[in-house]
Amino acid sequence: MYYPDDLIEEIRIRSDIVDIISGYVKLQKQGSSYFGLCPFHNEKSPSFSVSPGKQMYYCFGCGEGGNVFTFLMRYENDTFPEAVSILAQRAGVELPEVEYTAEEKKNNDLKAMILQVNKEAAKFFFHQLKSGSDKSGYEYFKGRGLTDETMVKFGLGYSLKYSDSLYRYLKEKGYNDEVLKETGLIKYSEKGVYDAFWNRVMYPIMDNNNRVIGFGGRVLGDGKPKYINSQETKVFDKSRNLYGLNFARITRRPDFIICEGYMDVIALHQAGFNNAVAALGTAFTSQHAALIKRYTDNVLLTFDSDGAGVKAALRAIPILRNAGLSIKVINMKPYKDPDEFIKNLGTDEFEKRIDTAENAFLYEIRMLQKEYDIKDPDGRTRFYNETAKKLLAFSDEIERNVYLDSVCDEFMIPKESMEKLVYKQSLTYSGEKNEVLQTDSERINKESLKDEGMKQSQKILLTWLIEDDRIYPKIADIISENDFIDSFYHKVAEMLFEQLRTGNLNPAGILSRFESEEEQRKAAGLFHASLSGNMSPQEKEKALNETIQKVKKNSLDYAGRNASDVNTLQWIIKEQARLQNMHVLLD
Ligand code: CTP
Ligand code: MN
Repeated sequence: MYYPDDLIEEIRIRSDIVDIISGYVKLQKQGSSYFGLCPFHNEKSPSFSVSPGKQMYYCFGCGEGGNVFTFLMRYENDTFPEAVSILAQRAGVELPEVEYTAEEKKNNDLKAMILQVNKEAAKFFFHQLKSGSDKSGYEYFKGRGLTDETMVKFGLGYSLKYSDSLYRYLKEKGYNDEVLKETGLIKYSEKGVYDAFWNRVMYPIMDNNNRVIGFGGRVLGDGKPKYINSQETKVFDKSRNLYGLNFARITRRPDFIICEGYMDVIALHQAGFNNAVAALGTAFTSQHAALIKRYTDNVLLTFDSDGAGVKAALRAIPILRNAGLSIKVINMKPYKDPDEFIKNLGTDEFEKRIDTAENAFLYEIRMLQKEYDIKDPDGRTRFYNETAKKLLAFSDEIERNVYLDSVCDEFMIPKESMEKLVYKQSLTYSGEKNEVLQTDSERINKESLKDEGMKQSQKILLTWLIEDDRIYPKIADIISENDFIDSFYHKVAEMLFEQLRTGNLNPAGILSRFESEEEQRKAAGLFHASLSGNMSPQEKEKALNETIQKVKKNSLDYAGRNASDVNTLQWIIKEQARLQNMHVLLD
């Protein structure tokens, strides 16, 4: 679904960013900006800024930034069209009707019906739990230490001993069999029609908008299967949802706790760990990891401490790592899972286990070590080789060295031998991997530092260009978008210079032109270079000139390296000379 650019711009212009964000974050005016505590990371002193001039927000602490649309997308986890529609409504801008095909319409209607039935069913189960005549479900949860408040919060329920009470209830409500079949709550077979869940305690599964998308059900005793889960339906995709995410997504804790079961999530939330989530009776997938990465960079694993739990953890770690998450593993011994741990040792002890959680890589190596007889030279050699192989998986040399150091320390492996082993292993890998290993780390380091410095100068220049309207006319014949070489910087500069040339400065509008949140955040960062606070006019002029020199020199050097004809080279030499004699006066 696409709205025209001007319509998006109109909605954005009519939605003042300070107004909108004030609804979520307490802001205080400070100079030309507003500051508050960042809603996207934990902090004690405000580094979250909202600029009415730029119509953007930016956190100097965590680097989150964007315009009004991005804010809603990040804070409310809305999609772009959702954010547009919310702000349009608020600003009184009418959006064109979206045209659906007959097929799409039928599909949407069916989805809405399934959600409606799910909600009815959840209400039915919830009612049976506490108010029905059969109290076994309620007693069961009480027996497992859940408070009434927790049962309400998670909407827990009970499905009755009869195999068709939900079916009869829903039929009475007027739902037809065609719809009920699609919900997966009712099963149709030659033998008849019966409920998918009966005589079980019920865990409704909610999406981020607190809509019931499916259920888990547990037997009250030791029967088998212990848990059953709703089948996947048009509204229930197990690999795209996590149990507890509707609560965890607004946690102020710095990480997510990933556990295995429904009861673990509930027990953790009840104990105050409102950042716990679990996969829904399926293995952890890369989609789950990507979902988590939208909310946090750090995860704590509390998989069961039995063999199956360790196996599941070892499977999940690489998936989480690939998503760019930093992972630690919580040791729950001597208990099996977080639910049992908390029941026995309590919240404070669990908090301690969080503090002493083990780095996931060291955990992996420790588990690996168990497979070998370390006392035997042969076993030890094989263990070292496997460890070297795992180290090789880090393509970043600095990171790899850090891990090499800690692994050697932890497992008392001589560092030099491990370095040699890693090198040897690398030779049997692809050419790409060899290159990483053989490059001089110092050189890489230096280059990347220079690159960072260059980018910083370009950011400062872009930030100044939108903050101080004296600057553009003075540098218009020196600097243009072409001096921003990095393709992303170039794209942003191109739009900004276009605005400056036509006198329509509107940096927040530039952000909407990028599709991904990641790019929008990055673009916002370019307009928020941190400048050293109070510069005197002389200092600022000096800094400006240095910045221009740096940016221009870099771009001429680049042009020089790529020049292929004499004319271009002559032009570059002329420009270099002009640059040397140039000085921009402010005022
Ligand atoms: N699970 C499932 N089907 C099963 C067993 C387990 O879908 N037959 C899923 C459930 O989501 C369950 C999780 O795997 O919550 C973990 O299973 P398990 O460790 O066996 O159960 P616990 O969560 O410890 O359950 P409880 O504490 O209620 O015994
Ligand atoms: Mn358990």
